[in-house]
Amino acid sequence: EITKVYDFQVVSSMVRRLGRTKNIITVNGELPGPTIYANDGDRLLITVRNTVKYKMSIHWHGIRQFRSPWFDGPAYVTQCPLKQGQSFLYNFTVDSHMGTLFWHAHIMWLRATVYGAIVIYPRRTMPYPFKSPYEEQVVILGEWWNNDIQAIEEDALRHGAPNQSDAYTINGFPGPSYKESEAQVYTLNAITGKRYLLRLVNAALNMELFFSIANHSMTVVEVDAEYTKPYTTDTILLTPGQTTNVVITADQPCARYFMSAVPYMSAQHVPYTPTAATAVLEYIACDMKSSTFATPETPIQPFFNDTSYATRFSGSLRSLASSQHKIDVPQTVDKEFLFAIGLGIKPCSPGSTCRAPDNGNFTASINNVSFALPTKMSLMEAYYRNVPGIYSTDFPVAPVNPFDYTDQSSGSLKNVAPQVGTRISVIPYGSNVQIVFQNTYIAGFENHPIHLHGYNFYVLGYGFGNYDASKSSQFNLVDPPLRNTIGVPSGGWAVIRFKADNPGVWYMHCHLEIHTTWGLATAILVTNGVGPDQSIVPPPDDYPQC
Ligand code: C2O
Repeated sequence: EITKVYDFQVVSSMVRRLGRTKNIITVNGELPGPTIYANDGDRLLITVRNTVKYKMSIHWHGIRQFRSPWFDGPAYVTQCPLKQGQSFLYNFTVDSHMGTLFWHAHIMWLRATVYGAIVIYPRRTMPYPFKSPYEEQVVILGEWWNNDIQAIEEDALRHGAPNQSDAYTINGFPGPSYKESEAQVYTLNAITGKRYLLRLVNAALNMELFFSIANHSMTVVEVDAEYTKPYTTDTILLTPGQTTNVVITADQPCARYFMSAVPYMSAQHVPYTPTAATAVLEYIACDMKSSTFATPETPIQPFFNDTSYATRFSGSLRSLASSQHKIDVPQTVDKEFLFAIGLGIKPCSPGSTCRAPDNGNFTASINNVSFALPTKMSLMEAYYRNVPGIYSTDFPVAPVNPFDYTDQSSGSLKNVAPQVGTRISVIPYGSNVQIVFQNTYIAGFENHPIHLHGYNFYVLGYGFGNYDASKSSQFNLVDPPLRNTIGVPSGGWAVIRFKADNPGVWYMHCHLEIHTTWGLATAILVTNGVGPDQSIVPPPDDYPQC
């Protein structure tokens, strides 16, 4: 185990995309931002200095932050954001991760341009559980807006829609399918016969994405920095917040091939032809026929709302669970939650200029509570210093059960006007927790990629319709995938399980930024019940205040 040191300067940078030049916020002037490299067990020391006028905070998405909650990064949850001129030293250990994670701004919608990969190799004595690739590449999927991201966010808060980006991107570039973007394309050079490990990240703000490479199948070997049983497929699906490592073999005729990322939109029912983000897989050091070089093959992607493809893919992933790589699925449950997640409509406040459908603003909630972040102090500090009035622990509000969450006619009425609150759940330290996420039918079916901070969790199962206890007979308790983000199917449910062994306050939210903004979030407080666990490191001296 060694210590790796990184310097992150949050700066304003001029970049050119889609034929226009624009000022955006970046880390060190890069888009995507710098990649962090570590082996499992290493310590990372990352100084973040904020030089821009926007408040900033950076989250190391998927890193457990075991005993180090101060460094998790979500603004107002584990720290106050950095004001212009402030800096903060993030100091944490990479603990039990192997694969790819990513970091991103965790305040407002600034992660639109403030994101980058975290590459985690196994412990230095450990090989990969699959044949080593010839070369590895990070492939980050994202979104691009021509307009100012602040204006886009305000619009999303005021109106329901539209929030569509102007382009999808691969390693920061829209690629040749967009006008004036032909030259800006990520290219992976491949040598015939060699194997390549692609470390895919979906850093998009609001869109689930399918990813395919023409004429090449991909073998999934890791998701969310955990090994999986090898699973070979033509297309993978990533929700925002998910990462997936695939191995490809350059076994096709010497040519150029397109890889592409296209939206998966579970809620979309009107035919829709989105433009794909495109990158190139180019065979080198071989005899390139000029004809195939000029016109690369285009991958065949699933239809934009192909929920059965999406479900089949996610349901095919299994933990490696080998004798070398043991897993530890909690077989019993001490604490169970049913979280009804969904969108809703809240009445316009008098005098406001809301123009959203039904003369109301969209909102989103969990068990009818639309989450509001505190403003004066982080939840974590309020807990640690025992400061009252920052949050309440009266969550969850019991969901109305039995209740048909997926019935459009009666269902939507139960969830139309959520209360706004900073209400969190208390979980006894050490307990085995099961959370049932029930996706409600409100304002259209939509997948919700739920992300939990501070933990990896096992995905025991999911399905369509209403969850009930009989579904537990379908649970996978043998080799369920271990993830940090799960797409809860539109009109369906998902069940996760984890051991609450990491004390602190941990955010849990939909990783579609627009839904988090509308309140589809909450936090869990894992505590031994007698106050802050002594095993939590104390807050550092430079811990930012609001
Ligand atoms: Cu990737 Cu709370 O975020």
